[in-house]
Amino acid sequence: MDILQTANERMEQLAALMNKDIKQPIAAEEKVKVGVDLGTSSIVFVVLDENNVPLFGAFEFADAVRDGLVVNYRESVEVVKRLKTRAENCLGISLTHASGAIPPGTIGNNKKVVANVIESAGMEALYTIDEPTAAAVVLDLKDGAVVDVGGGTTGISVFKNGEVIYTADEPTGGTHMTLVLAGYYGVSVEEAEQNKREQKDSSEHFSVMRPVVEKMAEITRVHLEKSPSEPLYIVGGASAYSQFKNTFESYLKMPVFQPNYPQYVTPLGIAMSSGSGNL
Ligand SMILES: Nc1ncnc2c1ncn2[C@@H]1O[C@H](COP(=O)(O)OP(=O)(O)OP(=O)(O)O)[C@@H](O)[C@H]1O
Ligand SMILES: [Mg+2]
Repeated sequence: MDILQTANERMEQLAALMNKDIKQPIAAEEKVKVGVDLGTSSIVFVVLDENNVPLFGAFEFADAVRDGLVVNYRESVEVVKRLKTRAENCLGISLTHASGAIPPGTIGNNKKVVANVIESAGMEALYTIDEPTAAAVVLDLKDGAVVDVGGGTTGISVFKNGEVIYTADEPTGGTHMTLVLAGYYGVSVEEAEQNKREQKDSSEHFSVMRPVVEKMAEITRVHLEKSPSEPLYIVGGASAYSQFKNTFESYLKMPVFQPNYPQYVTPLGIAMSSGSGNL
């Protein structure tokens, strides 16, 4: 069986719902699991039923978090409140609890702030898990490595027997791919970001961004040398380009697995590992 089959089925279901605001009322007594992903480029809100079937998914672009640190608390809360209201309108219930995630290595108040955002948005904060563990839940991974290429950083996490045994986070991410595009075409960063998202299959774009992707592969190589592991999975929005996986495979000379819609893996995993509120 394709090792990504289950993950891909859920990703497809979630992607089909994303920002569609489909009215799908559920019974008031039905238990749901809610995940909130406060990312650098967007805040994603996911609701699942008890069997992890996606019921609602939405996101807003927000400049409220930088590399896992909430830099604009008020905006984060406002965005989460709006996403919560949209979910409640679609599902016809009120959402009372949610879980969040933090990048590996986040400690102290920075860890608490994610729970505070969820509470300020009117929900009980159940768990704050680390992002690679959320991804591993979706991928059903016990042994192997996950590379999460987000907006600001490339994070590598190595798992052994279901535990994170090694993590690293380096400041090269999707933003750097956008900056290279903006420079090459002489357009604003905003325009380059839009073009980048609209032309995910453009090989011309990709050849401009390839050196940045190879740098991400090099970062991965260096860390895997310190903590060798396979299989290797790639997730994160910045990896959502058709030639991304192949570039990693030829650079690292090893097979690489990538689920469909890699930008939704962490938010789905946060919701999957959340409780249904009655724990
Ligand atoms: N649907 C998409 N299509 C193409 N690119 C995308 C898509 N969604 C996100 N991206 C790109 O992925 C990057 C953001 O990835 P992701 O959403 O995983 O990051 P994040 O979780 O917000 O950030 P971080 O994990 O660094 O805090 C951006 O550079 C963006 O251009
Ligand atoms: Mg992320």
